[in-house]
Amino acid sequence: MTAHITLTRPDDWHVHLRDGEALHTVVPHTSAQFARAIVMPNLKPPVTTAAQALAYKQRILDAVPEGQQFEPLMTLYLTDQLPADEILRAHEAGVVAVKLYPAGATTNSSAGVTDIRHTHATLEAMQRVGMPLLVHGEVTDPEVDVFDREAVFIERHLMPLRRDFPELKIVLEHITTREAAQFVVQAGKHTAATLTAHHLLYNRNALFMGGLRPHYYCLPVLKREVHRQALLQAAASGSDRFFLGTDSAPHAAPLKEHASGCAGCYTALTAIELYAEAFDSVGALDKLEAFASFHGPDFYGLPRNTTQITLHRQSWTLPEQLPYGETSLKPLRGGESLAWRMA
Ligand code: NCD
Ligand code: ZN
Repeated sequence: MTAHITLTRPDDWHVHLRDGEALHTVVPHTSAQFARAIVMPNLKPPVTTAAQALAYKQRILDAVPEGQQFEPLMTLYLTDQLPADEILRAHEAGVVAVKLYPAGATTNSSAGVTDIRHTHATLEAMQRVGMPLLVHGEVTDPEVDVFDREAVFIERHLMPLRRDFPELKIVLEHITTREAAQFVVQAGKHTAATLTAHHLLYNRNALFMGGLRPHYYCLPVLKREVHRQALLQAAASGSDRFFLGTDSAPHAAPLKEHASGCAGCYTALTAIELYAEAFDSVGALDKLEAFASFHGPDFYGLPRNTTQITLHRQSWTLPEQLPYGETSLKPLRGGESLAWRMA
């Protein structure tokens, strides 16, 4: 059994850091593991201008502990009204991508896109400057079963989008189904996907084991085991179109343990350890480095990191909760043991 592994320092290509006081809890977790992270723009109100993205970036940097090197990679939130001009300003300001949330699909998405056709001029500008579109791929149609919303989104919206904008870089975020993995493989070199640790480690049974377990609730929701197996296979295949994106999404514990609990799993504290466990489970630890550290920057056209991290096979128990302002934050697997530990 491998006792330790050394990797090029990874990046997180999809994370929620929130704002204000929360930054001081969550940014140090992400910056301890990752050199860079794609920061989601679903604040209240959302980040829709280059100026807002730069101000948000500075608030994140202010929360990075002394001595750590961390670069937040900023994104804009696509709305029906985001002007094409703003893409050019954002591109010049170093904003790296734009996030599409179908209106109402998930946490803080009420300002999202109501009809992709409204955004065509903006998408054209993105295609021209080479700025990736990051997609929350779920339909919001209440007639569609919650577990089918990703597969239906691909058919109804993503295939037409792929056809209409053949050169646009598209990342299908946090994929959860066999259909999504197949779509990405077949869609050509401008299409990629992020995979979360929790969708690689758990199927939907985790939500109901011994009672309703809200800390396993996220969107897109965990799926059947066949889908988890397909995702593991995609990750372990070594294909450069799949890369690490935790979708770590902190919510105060009382808002998850609630009659209408918030969607989002908090994994930033031990993200790379959870991915190591998932890759190890299919004998693919040798594929972890490229997935975590190479495929993302290669797709985005950014340099790979040059420093390293080491993980030891060492059983330890994750704290059940962490202080989070006046309340607490419960990390996924809190109070349970993990098989790997970052040195
Ligand atoms: C995210 C959040 O809380 O911001 N929640 C989640 O379940 N993943 C939003 C998102 O990425 O869907
Ligand atoms: Zn997310």
